[in-house]
Amino acid sequence: TTLMTLAEKMPKTELHLHIEGTFEPEQMFELATRNKVTLKYASVDELKAAYQFTNLQDFLDLYYQGMSVLLKEADFYDLTMAYLRKVHSENVVHVEIFFDPQGHLSRGVSFETQITGIYRALQDAEQQWGMSFKLIMSFLRHLSEESAFDTLELAKPFLHWIDGVGLDSSELGHPPEKFQQVFKACQDLGLKVTAHAGEEGPPEYVWQAIDLIKVDRIDHGNRALEDMNLVASVKEKQLTLTVCPLSNLKLCVVEDLSDHPIKHMLALGLKATVNSDDPAYFGGYMNDNYRALIKDSGIDKAELYQLAHNGIEGSWMSNEQKAAHL
Ligand code: ADE
Ligand code: ZN
Repeated sequence: TTLMTLAEKMPKTELHLHIEGTFEPEQMFELATRNKVTLKYASVDELKAAYQFTNLQDFLDLYYQGMSVLLKEADFYDLTMAYLRKVHSENVVHVEIFFDPQGHLSRGVSFETQITGIYRALQDAEQQWGMSFKLIMSFLRHLSEESAFDTLELAKPFLHWIDGVGLDSSELGHPPEKFQQVFKACQDLGLKVTAHAGEEGPPEYVWQAIDLIKVDRIDHGNRALEDMNLVASVKEKQLTLTVCPLSNLKLCVVEDLSDHPIKHMLALGLKATVNSDDPAYFGGYMNDNYRALIKDSGIDKAELYQLAHNGIEGSWMSNEQKAAHL
């Protein structure tokens, strides 16, 4: 078998996936019609033509617009189920997905509406296909820490459905230190913690994620490679990096996948994993990310296995669950 076939067939985990980033234009128009919401774009093709980004903020502007058609529990269910069906067909066996409650609360959609729709889809996928899952509530870092605390209050009746918390949205100018108190409160509630760091932000933000937020893993982490002391620290703490190759390409974090640092991360002994971030916007789901790495970054069979292995090890599954996949 070729490396491509191997990548497609092997059991995989997804550890960095924003459910709102799986919104395919066709489904967005379908829900817009169903909810009688008018989109700024006249057609699927016009919307797709807007998917050209030069940085993270360009993308986020479109991402928040796109999610504005999500209003009812059924919308969150349908969005999540479409994603899970898709990755089930790609041999993804375990998913840890983010949702952005503040992106919906600001539009008058209750926390309960959001999480109930998403959670029901995750449960159905587990029942139908044995796909296991974790759910991660993510705080928007362009908003205040007070807003994150308000969101945590709203989450409290649903904590039995929530495994961890994350930190996403505009990185530059919004360092992890801004959220030190709220992450401490989350940890005291028994939640796992991760944060986007070093996607666009400097190595200092990765240091803060580790030292101040005390993250259990790091989302992206590309720019950690600029500081060898930081690399040593990430390695020593065995922190998993949820790397997103096609996302990095689309958001101009890398110029070309031949320059992507993922091979270098592995060579340094860092626990890099492959993830799709916002697949509807970045041109590909899990297998597309692996195919692109094989074709353009030259990853070999040993690296392929290492990446998949890291995805299981770095997940928040129990040791028993992990052992069943290794
Ligand atoms: N929200 C959705 N995708 C994101 C990313 N790649 N970085 C920061 N915030 C995000
Ligand atoms: Zn992300």
